[in-house]
Formats: sequence, C-alpha cells, structure tokens
Amino acid sequence: MITIPKHIRELKPYKAGKPIEELAREKGIKKIVKLASNENPLGPSPKAIEVIKEHLADLHRYTNPSAYKLVQAIARKYKKQPGQIVTASGSDALLQYIITAFSDEDDEMLTSQGTFIGWYVNADKYSRKSTHVPLKNFHYDLDAIADNVNQKTKIIYLANPNNPTGTMFTKTEFDLFLKKIPEDILIVLDEAYTVYAEDNPGYPNGLEYNNENLIVLRTLSKAYGLAGLRLGIAFGPEYLIKEIYKVKLPFEPNALAQEAAIAALEDDEFLDRTKKMNKSSLQKMKKKFDELYISCVPTAANFYLLVFPTEEFTVDFNEECLNRGLILRHVKSFGIPNAIRINSGTDEETDFALNIISEVYPRLVEKHKVYSAQ
Ligand SMILES: Cc1ncc(COP(=O)(O)O)c(C=O)c1O
Repeated sequence: MITIPKHIRELKPYKAGKPIEELAREKGIKKIVKLASNENPLGPSPKAIEVIKEHLADLHRYTNPSAYKLVQAIARKYKKQPGQIVTASGSDALLQYIITAFSDEDDEMLTSQGTFIGWYVNADKYSRKSTHVPLKNFHYDLDAIADNVNQKTKIIYLANPNNPTGTMFTKTEFDLFLKKIPEDILIVLDEAYTVYAEDNPGYPNGLEYNNENLIVLRTLSKAYGLAGLRLGIAFGPEYLIKEIYKVKLPFEPNALAQEAAIAALEDDEFLDRTKKMNKSSLQKMKKKFDELYISCVPTAANFYLLVFPTEEFTVDFNEECLNRGLILRHVKSFGIPNAIRINSGTDEETDFALNIISEVYPRLVEKHKVYSAQ
C-alpha cells in the first residue's frame, strides 16, 4: 500500500455535476438549463470556431512551447512586452504555477473567505497555510486583509469582481491597499470577469499597474466563451513571468486554444452581444428576485449570488431547481453555505430559470417557515 500524504488525503475532489444528458435521463425531464458555471450562454466566439476548423489538420504537431504567436497578439492588444505575458491551460493552472514558483512550504497565503474555490484548492494541494479573512457585507474587507499580513505572508489572492459574490472593489480602494502591502509580498489580481465589470465606474483595470509585486490574471473561459478549450493569461513583471515559464507544462495551452484565443480576443462584435445579453438577463432576474423577496447581492459580473436564511433552505432550493431541470451552484465549498450562484442566460434560459424559481421559492418559504414572500 502506498501512503498518501495527509494534505492530499484531506483534499476534497472537485465535485463535478452529472453530464446534462445523464441528469435528464435520471430525472425523466426533457429540458435542462445550466446556469451554474458562469459560462457564456451564447456559445464560443464564432471567429474562434472558424479558426479552430482551419487548424484541425495541424494537430499532429506540438505547439510552440511559449505560445509565440498568441503571446505576440496579446502583447499588441494590451500594449505589453511579450516577456510580461505567459499563457496556460486556464487561469486555474496559472494559480497552481504561481504557488509552485513563488512559495516555499513555510510561506503563508492570504485571501478572503467566500472567494474563488480554485485558489483554496491550489493552496491546499501544496499544503500551504492559508488565512481567509471574513467578507464584509459580501465584499472583500481589504483593510482587514492588509491587517492580517504577517512575517510569513508570501502571496495575497484577490478576485475582482469576486466569485461567487459578484462584488468589486474600486481603484481608490485598491490603490490604498497596494500602499499597505510590503513589496516582497506577491499580489495576484484575478480579473476573470473584467469584460463584464469594466464599465462600472471606479473599476480598476489591473493591466494599468506596473507594480513589481503584482500578477494579473485573465481568462478566455467566461465572456469569450472558450471554457472548454482552457486558456488563461498572466501579466506581470518580466522577472516573475520568467519563473512561471520554468514551472509550467511546456506545450500548454493546446494548439487549438492558442489559435482560437487569437481570434476570440479580436471578436469585439461577439463581446458586445455578450455584454448586452448579460445586462438584459441580469435585469430580468433582479426584477423577479425583488418581486419574490429573494435577497441577491449587487453584481459587477455575469452572475448573482442569492442569499437564503439557512443552509438547509439552500440545499432544498438547489435540489428542487435541479429536479425541474435548472442547474445552479450551491457555494458552500466557497465558504458561503447559505447561498446559490446563478449566471446570466439567453432570454429563453432566463425565462425558464425564473419560472422554476417562482414556483420553488414560495413553496420553500412555506415549508421552512422562514419569512413571508409577501
Ligand atoms: C475568479 C475566477 N478565477 C479563475 C477561474 C477559472 O478560470 P479558468 O477556466 O481560466 O481556469 C474562475 C472560474 O470560475 C473564476 O471564477
């Protein structure tokens, strides 16, 4: 028998939902709508699909290990030097590489409670001590995070907007925070939802900062509609990016992801449609949630966090929606046991979801005798 290291034994495996077809068969329902993973309901960027088709015949070739063409394209688009950019199979992979490259066993990680689960999992995978500072009214408490810095703190992780709360911090708040953090502590600013957030007044664009201790992450998984291809980007000072190249797998992102990303990053028409659809779906949702007296956190991203009175209520709500074909995300594992995340959908998906929620929620209020929906 092989002894499994304690910190690996204690890791909880990623709890993937059942494939949609399997769920439909099991529950005996025809229609299923998934609004659980903050994906783009419009599908992939059409320009990316075209390019993928053109490159299928090249799949017998290894990729360029530093994704040369893609990195050049990103550098041009964001006015950065190629040496300030590294790409990988999703920003989740980059989180792992950042911990590998920049921390030792004794170093500590610092972040918020109720933030992106991928960060927690990667820190646990490496057995790093990790402090999670409580949220303040579903926002990061940047002052408290800064107050929790100690001699061993090596990396601070912040997502803006945050997943799963959807809340953002402003440029003024971020600038103040940066001033408080010693320069030998690495700050990882994860901007997975920046396309949705960038029009909010005061939203800071991480790429406008050139701090020596800051890495900014972007992903093509959300607004660009390429979650299944896996493409994440890290921007940072050259002396840090160089180290990430040493620990990253050499041939990622895969060849199709690289080509698709070059096309998708230029597909402004698709991004425009995506933003419009997101706005109209979220507006429709908010109206219905207000009518039903469902408490939802104001969002700067492409999803809402619905907050319920108890964990039991939340589990029931999730299950009842699932039984009717609506897949949502219970965010207990993110540190918020009494909340559900729902992302924006097409008109049809939004109506489908809101019909189900209108049926389920009042019944559960009745059943749990928590508060009146009137
Ligand atoms: C804040 C945040 N960062 C990173 C990711 C992961 O993105 P990717 O698909 O690029 O690994 C997600 C996905 O949910 C996210 O919400």
